[in-house]
Amino acid sequence: MKARTFLPALAAVSLALWWIGGPATLGAAQSPDVHPDIHYVPTPNDVVDAMLTVAHVTGTDMVYDLGSGDGRIVIEAARRFGARGVGVEIDPDLVKRARENAVKAGVSDKVSFVQGDLFKTDFSSATVVTLYLSPSINLRLESKLKRELKPGSRVVSHRFPIGDWAPEQDLTVGGNHVLFWTIR
Ligand SMILES: C[S@@+](CC[C@H](N)C(=O)[O-])C[C@H]1O[C@@H](n2cnc3c(N)ncnc32)[C@H](O)[C@@H]1O
Repeated sequence: MKARTFLPALAAVSLALWWIGGPATLGAAQSPDVHPDIHYVPTPNDVVDAMLTVAHVTGTDMVYDLGSGDGRIVIEAARRFGARGVGVEIDPDLVKRARENAVKAGVSDKVSFVQGDLFKTDFSSATVVTLYLSPSINLRLESKLKRELKPGSRVVSHRFPIGDWAPEQDLTVGGNHVLFWTIR
């Protein structure tokens, strides 16, 4: 193939590969052998604040973030409110980053990060569960949330509903929805 036709073809293939693998992971390369149900996109800090505030997180809470990314939600729950927290995250690189962030924030005695699949992790000790996943993942999680969480536990989701659960509160923070429920 001549350079005149080869170079545009190479550019087109590169663009296609970027489109397939790139947009969902922009700014956050994920390990190639990790198969998350949804790629890493961090919750903005003002939305983290709103999620913890609407759930009335206190020092007696145990906050689980299912798909915890860089750990920001449970770290902030510990730093601001003195809560304990567990992040469940499938990507080992993100687990490592979250543990480092917890040390930097001075809360490594209050939070821990488990590398694993959120669908295979027991979160029955949670009093607050936070989510930033997708509508279909939340739907798959619905029965596990009902089964494992005790009455009075709170669930907060950034952006996405959980099946047909009617939220007690639906806030808008900088264009992002924060949905809140209490388990009955
Ligand atoms: C949209 S990000 C949210 C990160 C963090 N919760 C936040 O709000 O900043 C979703 C996270 O879920 C993780 N994830 C996807 N599927 C998972 C699974 N089956 N088990 C555990 N973590 C998963 C991804 O690696 C990613 O870090």
